[in-house]
Amino acid sequence: MKVLVIGRGGREHAIAWKMAQSALKPEIFVAPGNVGMRLITGQTGAQVTLVNIDENATEALRDFAIENHIDLTVVGPEAALANDIATVFRTAGLRIFAPTAAAARIESSKEFAKDLMRKYHIPTAAYRTFEDYEAAKQYLDEQGAPIVIKYDGLAAGKGVVVAMSTEEADNALKDMLLDNRFGKGKVVMEEFLQGPEFSLLTLVNGEQVVPLVIAQDHKRAYDGDKGPNTGGMGAYAPVPVIPQAQIDWAVEHIMKPTAKALMTEGCPFCGVLYGGLMLTKEGPKVIEFNARFGDPETEVVLPKLKSDLTQMILDVLDNKEVKPEFHEEAFLGVVLAAKGYPGSYSKNIPLNNPAGIPQQVFCMGVKEENGQLLSNGGRVLFVVGKGTTLKEAQQDAYQGVARMAHPDLFFRNDIGWQAL
Ligand code: AMP
Ligand code: GLY
Repeated sequence: MKVLVIGRGGREHAIAWKMAQSALKPEIFVAPGNVGMRLITGQTGAQVTLVNIDENATEALRDFAIENHIDLTVVGPEAALANDIATVFRTAGLRIFAPTAAAARIESSKEFAKDLMRKYHIPTAAYRTFEDYEAAKQYLDEQGAPIVIKYDGLAAGKGVVVAMSTEEADNALKDMLLDNRFGKGKVVMEEFLQGPEFSLLTLVNGEQVVPLVIAQDHKRAYDGDKGPNTGGMGAYAPVPVIPQAQIDWAVEHIMKPTAKALMTEGCPFCGVLYGGLMLTKEGPKVIEFNARFGDPETEVVLPKLKSDLTQMILDVLDNKEVKPEFHEEAFLGVVLAAKGYPGSYSKNIPLNNPAGIPQQVFCMGVKEENGQLLSNGGRVLFVVGKGTTLKEAQQDAYQGVARMAHPDLFFRNDIGWQAL
């Protein structure tokens, strides 16, 4: 059995690590991967090969998969989905767990996602879409603040402004519609919602929806949820502030109807459908959908998963019934990022050997030069602690963080605060 994982970050490290532990004993290829993923061999015995093909080189990836008789491909990054890698692979007769670009619009186009939710009565914030600054400004004057402004397209997590004042909202509108900061496009203006957020990852194939345990991300850069939005600074699972009944409700009334709606619209979804949800006073509502494994949620959800992920994905692709099992323990992970992230930051920070600590480390942005592991991105390492309680998992994680720390790296000290 040969598995190809596409991507290069901590999420793909976790996917490859988990898939490598399968009873099917797969040989793992990661394109392009990162050098930290070689750790998987020492941990699982699986052979791991890094393939020097960019995640956006869709045809080259397809040719590699054909020539090397890859049995199953799993895709991490949204950019590869937008290139329609799923259709290119399936057309070549290759098995791939990823949505088509048409289905992935649930992530890549806020307007598509919002219109779908409106049409199929899936609970989400009220909204309007605008292309023209003057019209958007008039709507802002009617609605007032707080209000949420979202660029309608992929903006690397930077396209959302939760504006607490009309001035802040107006600046965001000018930025996106007059100065075209992310390119010429539309904005979605949304009702401001309140409540704890959680991420519900589901494995989907058509109408089949298999929920995993929920996790909670920490999007802001600094302690106390201060500072700029990032790709995510830490995560944990389970999330005790969200009652199980609300999760079940969200599966039945959000995730399943969304999968069904995509089928009805002629773009059936296959892959990971990620619900970014908020538990409001009126129940769970959708903040956003993603069409892929969340990062860093995946790096705690997969350690908590007891079942064989490789087998689960194969079963979902065959529409067989899947009942995932999870470990009892809690898992909590902390990102070590290069100082300056999410703004400009330095690279080539020397890193301690992640194999030298008892905690599981997933490498987010690393490379190797002359046998020395170096940072190679904004988010560098993800250290996962575990314990019988979240508190213990947090202590365990921060012991690992202390061992991997460096003066040029920073991390949040309060990952898990909503639970502890
Ligand atoms: P998104 O990229 O859509 O997930 O938005 C990024 C973050 O902005 C979310 O994780 C929320 O914390 C916040 N946010 C987005 N939409 C809303 C909303 N309608 N009301 C309140 N906060 C929101
Ligand atoms: N952690 C949020 C995301 O993957 O988009």
